[in-house]
Amino acid sequence: MSNSQFFSNCPAESILEAAAALKAGCLVAFPTETVYGLGADASNEIAVKRIYEVKGRPTNHPLIIHVSSINALDIWAKEIPDYAIELAHVYWPGPMTIILKRSSAAKDFVTGGEDSVGIRIPSNLIALKLLSDFESLGGLGVAAPSANRFGQVSPTSSSDVSDEIGSCLLNSDVILNGGQSEVGIESTIIDCRSKAPTILRPGAITESLINKIRRVEFNSHQNKIRVSGSFEKHYAPAARILVNQTPIQGQAYYALSKYITPENVYRISAPISVENFAKDLYKAMREADKLGFTELVIQIPDNSELAVAIGDRVLRSAKGR
Ligand code: TXA
Ligand code: MG
Repeated sequence: MSNSQFFSNCPAESILEAAAALKAGCLVAFPTETVYGLGADASNEIAVKRIYEVKGRPTNHPLIIHVSSINALDIWAKEIPDYAIELAHVYWPGPMTIILKRSSAAKDFVTGGEDSVGIRIPSNLIALKLLSDFESLGGLGVAAPSANRFGQVSPTSSSDVSDEIGSCLLNSDVILNGGQSEVGIESTIIDCRSKAPTILRPGAITESLINKIRRVEFNSHQNKIRVSGSFEKHYAPAARILVNQTPIQGQAYYALSKYITPENVYRISAPISVENFAKDLYKAMREADKLGFTELVIQIPDNSELAVAIGDRVLRSAKGR
């Protein structure tokens, strides 16, 4: 293996093998910069069905199709507005998913029966290599939700993936290890089917970043399509999440380093920036569960646009399962 090329410590051969496994109809869990995804060939109905089985997810919840290049937009979508192309040019590869009118290639089994399709080019090097290898084998796109059981916290490391779904995978399925996800919360989902974009799920591509391309519109009907991440209750660990309050004895605590730890409170970690806070958020929730805490107090950062997405996830997990 002396001439082997590595992508974030993952040998190129392993990625190519994983791409071949996808093409053969197997599942591949892979790192992205947001969270780990559970991938299947988006054109293979049997493979995509297995994603739903492994996740325990209702089949009317659409999956995001991951591709390696902007050219693939025309394969999966039609009537694409100019501003969507501009968003794609500026923020892809990156933590952004755009929703477009689907083409005939995007079948009901991947769109949950919706007339739309979600598409994303992730920036993680292993993900990009996996997608381009898969495409060079003739694949068109990889359908991938977050690699957790339905309603649980998204995985941000390969060991989280094993904990979540390892026991449901077959020997021929693959989990690629790419270390910890850098962003730590799921992509921004932008509906690009009207004259102006609407945000269906906030993420690291923030409203002001989108506004630079085209002003975001807010409309009251925007949740007509099923976005599982937009359920009120979602992303919940076993521990009860309490928000923006002073923690007391026996509770676990997750807050930026500027907040002190009261006596007899277990501090999970003390991230120094809002970016680090997002990166370690789901890890902190998992840690609280592993340590057996029944309550985790989370202080949502303020004065940052990324805090909108953090607050969205934390408030949903506070509603419980
Ligand atoms: O960061 C992410 O987006 C990660 C990584 C793996 O790419 N994926 C992810 O997938 O979070 P998932 O399935 O856990 O959440 C994606 C959300 C779902 O709530 C789904 O309903 C919504 O995107 N979605 C996908 N396709 C859609 C469509 N055609 N119309 C409306 N919503 C869609
Ligand atoms: Mg998810």
